[in-house]
Amino acid sequence: MRTQVGIVGAGPAGLLLSHLLHLRGIDSVVLELRDRDHCERRVRAGVLEQGTVDVLTAAGVGDRLRREGLPHHGIELRYGGAGHRIAFEELVPGRSITVYGQQEVVKDLIAARLAAGGKILFDVPDVKPHDLTGSPYLTFGGEVLECDVIAGCDGFHGVTRAAVPQGELTTFERDYPFAWLGVLARVAPSAEELIYARTPRGFALHSMRSPEISRFYLQVPKDEREDAWPDERIWSELAARLETVPGFALKTGPVIEKSVTPMRSFVTEPMRYGNLYLAGDAAHIVPPTGAKGLNLAVADVTMLTDALARWYETGSAEGLDAYSATCLRRVWRAQHFSWWMTNLLHTFADEDPYGERLQTAYLDYVTSSTAAATTLAENYVGMVW
Ligand code: FAD
Ligand code: DHB
Repeated sequence: MRTQVGIVGAGPAGLLLSHLLHLRGIDSVVLELRDRDHCERRVRAGVLEQGTVDVLTAAGVGDRLRREGLPHHGIELRYGGAGHRIAFEELVPGRSITVYGQQEVVKDLIAARLAAGGKILFDVPDVKPHDLTGSPYLTFGGEVLECDVIAGCDGFHGVTRAAVPQGELTTFERDYPFAWLGVLARVAPSAEELIYARTPRGFALHSMRSPEISRFYLQVPKDEREDAWPDERIWSELAARLETVPGFALKTGPVIEKSVTPMRSFVTEPMRYGNLYLAGDAAHIVPPTGAKGLNLAVADVTMLTDALARWYETGSAEGLDAYSATCLRRVWRAQHFSWWMTNLLHTFADEDPYGERLQTAYLDYVTSSTAAATTLAENYVGMVW
């Protein structure tokens, strides 16, 4: 089998890349380890920057997103018994975010690829990249896929980054001493906007998917097991962390899904080795507090599509040569913002009273200074990089 771009991974990065390439007349094949159902059910991100919405819309996969996505014009920071709104309409006029589940983006992309005759092979074990600095090819289950370039879109635990010889990539990393328990529940949201709550018991986030479905996150110890969190415990802890302002009542309902996500910061430099281009979580991870991971993946593959199209159309490798540095500028801005939001809002077991006061002082600053609030808003909606 032969294609122009061999794509490993059918997450948002791989699927969108495949579709954007198709729209530029470039052929690709996507190889995915898991089955289609698993890919479409994996509950993860929810916050789409305007730039992400624009890319999806321009690619023709924005119809359901426009109908069902929930536009948001602010978020609340809740701490010390009060809520403080970060008002996008005042701080970053004309900018907003849209809440729409990543699994819905994935469903829309898979449907669009298949409708256009795109090739996605699901349930493919043992994908291996070869000859990355020569004529690259992928092997899987006795088959060979020859290609001009390989796009490593296989997430943090994938095989493409691992196939690069030792010493060719530099990695930068930070671990956090906690994780997030993500909860999807069949209950109406308890507020119209997202609530990022810092409490002495730990961080909590109130989000949503639709008028009937809520999404929550709780800071939990690192390596926490899901079964340590029966539904009653989830609801009582969410109530303890969110019902901290007068008049706020948490609505409860059946939990549909729950899972624990480790918190990690990670960057690979460069995002290229020979004819292998890394994109999305395969190249970098941010802790989810800043809601940047999916948006970075979209930015990477948009850039990679432009660079590949230029190469195929004109023979110029300038875009491809600039790919890594161009992406990394945005990646590092998101790294800093995500690290900063994480430190601002979580409780750290080893924090002394001085550190706790500093954290409150910082939150007071962000919620009282227009300059500081604007910085948060500009980063959150994805205006700066
Ligand atoms: P992935 O989604 O990880 O896709 C990689 C694909 O490659 C998967 O389908 C995987 O099965 C496949 N694969 C892996 N190994 C192989 C292999 N060996 N062979 C073939 N295929 C393979 N981001 C935001 O922007 N906003 C948010 O609000 C947000 N919230 C989040 C909340 C949580 C709880 C989590 C976990 C993440 C959140 N993120 C958020 C991050 C976002 O989900 C990721 O950044 C995003 O999924 C990255 O997409 P990707 O396509 O690069 O990688
Ligand atoms: C959601 C996820 C995030 O990481 C975040 O910061 C805000 C919202 C969500 O899944 O809705």
